[in-house]
Amino acid sequence: MTIVSTDLISEILDLKRQRNAVILAHNYQISPIQEVADYVGDSLGLSRKAAETGADVIAFCGVHFMGETAKILNPSKTVVIPDMDAGCSLSDSCPPEKLAAFLEEHAEKNYYVIAYINCSAGVKALADVIVTSGNAVRIVEAAPADRNILFVPDQNLGAWVMERTGRTMDLWRGSCYVHVEFTRDSIHRIKAEHPGAVVVAHPECTHAVRLLADEVCSTEKMVSYCRENPARDFIIVTESGMLHRLRREVTGKNFIPGPTDQCACADCRYMKMNTLEKLRDCLANLEPRIEMPEELRARAERSVRRMLELSE
Ligand code: 13P
Ligand code: SF4
Repeated sequence: MTIVSTDLISEILDLKRQRNAVILAHNYQISPIQEVADYVGDSLGLSRKAAETGADVIAFCGVHFMGETAKILNPSKTVVIPDMDAGCSLSDSCPPEKLAAFLEEHAEKNYYVIAYINCSAGVKALADVIVTSGNAVRIVEAAPADRNILFVPDQNLGAWVMERTGRTMDLWRGSCYVHVEFTRDSIHRIKAEHPGAVVVAHPECTHAVRLLADEVCSTEKMVSYCRENPARDFIIVTESGMLHRLRREVTGKNFIPGPTDQCACADCRYMKMNTLEKLRDCLANLEPRIEMPEELRARAERSVRRMLELSE
């Protein structure tokens, strides 16, 4: 159990008031950050909160592309993140220059580009629309029927959306280094230890793992799904931070982390770079700050706004 200094918490709350800041945290953040945040949620919920906040400062506890999305949607705000090095393997798998070159090389396809929100502002600027795991099915269903679709950067989420919608898409070959660590064997083993437990997996998992799940959904949907499902035991096949959110909000149930072949649960090293100390420092110094050229921001905003409109 982590012991958290109450002085540190008070310092963060004081700074938050002084700065007129809002603290937004992703479901994969360490428990003390989730506890101190004003809002904890998935990428879609966090984007909505970032777009509508009246605070002067957004302290975004997540990874870099999430802070960037907040700045894209609400450019007059100061957006700070606890650690500038908190990246994402999915985002890294699709550099904007590579995507631009691919689109040029395949110009005859006239691709409609659908980008998972786990990508850089440069990729968002090249995309027609953004999706999250929470709205991907709906947005792909709404895509123009006469266009070829290129889905970037997550091949697993893309494949899951194809299964759900029946729509064929060309997939960029990126993946999340955390979610591909869950294997058929590791999930079979934990299922054998907890017969009768309901398996809930994130769509970034591989096809072999998704096949073993009773439900595949975004991290936010996991909360309502587990609340409404009458079962008591749930195996949660996603990053370990999710377990804190579930235990806090869905009481009286037993949440078991999905294991990998090596570990009893899976941590995202990028999400776990953020600490309470770094959160305090970013509120105190208003650094590190997310900045980007206005021309790039405005181009990226079009595809993110289209996502928000389509998921209302
Ligand atoms: P969610 O939008 O479902 O929270 O997923 C974000 C993410 O990074 C999953 O690895
Ligand atoms: Fe990126 Fe995977 Fe970490 Fe999510 S869990 S932020 S997709 S590396």
